[in-house]
Amino acid sequence: MRLSSSDIMKKKNLLLGVSGSIAAYKACDLVRRLQDNHYEVSVVMTACAEKFVTPLTFEVLTQRPVCRDMFARDGQWDMAHISLAQWAQVMVIAPATANIIGKLAAGLADDPVTCVAITINAPLLIAPAMNTGMYSNAIVQRNISELKKIGMNFINPKEGRLACGDTGAGALAEINEILAAIKSLE
Ligand SMILES: Cc1cc2nc3c(=O)[nH]c(=O)nc-3n(C[C@H](O)[C@H](O)[C@H](O)COP(=O)(O)O)c2cc1C
Repeated sequence: MRLSSSDIMKKKNLLLGVSGSIAAYKACDLVRRLQDNHYEVSVVMTACAEKFVTPLTFEVLTQRPVCRDMFARDGQWDMAHISLAQWAQVMVIAPATANIIGKLAAGLADDPVTCVAITINAPLLIAPAMNTGMYSNAIVQRNISELKKIGMNFINPKEGRLACGDTGAGALAEINEILAAIKSLE
């Protein structure tokens, strides 16, 4: 798709956080759909997310470096978690694991995704994806409601047959619904 100069002007900076869920592969498609919708996308990912999708995939899709190690210097002297938090006009964590949600609810920031999410001052959307037993677990539900209470936005996972073979709520929301939820934050 060819963008006109006025379209390029309208591009919004979106930071996509990817965590270690089997649904991480769907984040690749989400990047393309966001780009089609005039978002400049940058990716930050956890070490576990790299077990599912390589940083290279996101680097090629976004044509930007992936933030995957807060302590890597590579000749850059800015701190990625601060500069990305300042760059982003909106952040989406998709897929968000039970672990990432729990860490955010506890105020922990020991990986690149939670560290930027806690630094950022822009709207944040969280798209959980996990096994239905994990999603319905009282601890996970408590963490989600605590985060909602302090103004974090969630898009519910959908019901259906999950990658593990179980059936129930937990599959990452449809890309179209995630896009609509992002737009509703603007
Ligand atoms: C094959 C496989 C699939 C997984 N899928 C999920 C998932 O969809 N959601 C989830 O919350 N955890 C899932 N996990 C567990 C997480 O990877 C694990 O909790 C990990 O510590 C999450 O790390 P992160 O949140 O830092 O990315 C999965 C683990 C494996 C081995």
